Amino acid sequence: MDPWTQIDSAPVPGSDAELTLLQRNGDFAIRISDVQGDLMNSRMYHSEEVLAELGCTRLGTSENARVLVGGLGMGFTLAAALRIVPASAEVIVAELVPEVVEWNRGPLGLCAGRPLDDDRARIHQGDVVALLKHPDKKFDAILLDVDNGPEAMTASANGWLYTRGGLKTIYEKLRPEGIVAIWSVRADHLFTGRLKKTGFNVQTRTVRARPGKGSRHTIFVAQKPR
Ligand SMILES: C[S@@+](CC[C@H](N)C(=O)[O-])C[C@H]1O[C@@H](n2cnc3c(N)ncnc32)[C@H](O)[C@@H]1O
Repeated sequence: MDPWTQIDSAPVPGSDAELTLLQRNGDFAIRISDVQGDLMNSRMYHSEEVLAELGCTRLGTSENARVLVGGLGMGFTLAAALRIVPASAEVIVAELVPEVVEWNRGPLGLCAGRPLDDDRARIHQGDVVALLKHPDKKFDAILLDVDNGPEAMTASANGWLYTRGGLKTIYEKLRPEGIVAIWSVRADHLFTGRLKKTGFNVQTRTVRARPGKGSRHTIFVAQKPR
């Protein structure tokens, strides 16, 4: 099998970590320094798509729905959300690493069908944490896939997202019946309990990395009551 070739790298703002973009024939991988395995791989994106489906399922006919995706990665979650929401929707995607946005405007764009070109997609180049703490906009769905699960990995400041304070802020940022869906490499019963204590109705789903095969990932689906 051909080896992977590094085609670019980028520092992660606010941390010592670095992302690298690798290519092997038509496949791409994004890796993060000091972490084994891929942060994202263009051949395995089923659970990233299901994250959007579980978060946006009730928005197919909602006028002016607003969705927040954090972060962009290879754009699979964003593309899946755009396939569900109607023409009047706005889907904001927060991406911490500016080069990831450039990569998606360049070689990575084809992986998910260039979702950034969709008129309903808006890029927020910056930290999803800052956007969540900003008081103005509320969302019908928040789709979070910035770490490997409910513990900071890409940037240490992400740890706040999974605390009681972070979850309370996310709860306040959702419209009534809004859903936060969180991707995780594994189940985490303590985190499920924390979501419930915040006031969410919670379900956890096990989803394979590829349809019907591959690693099993967990998606936490937490809905704010009406
Ligand atoms: C696993 S990838 C996301 C994969 C994505 N779901 C997809 O479909 O390709 C994680 C992404 O989150 C970004 N990220 C990490 N921390 C972030 C933060 N605090 N705010 C915004 N983006 C962040 C990373 O740079 C990376 O692009």
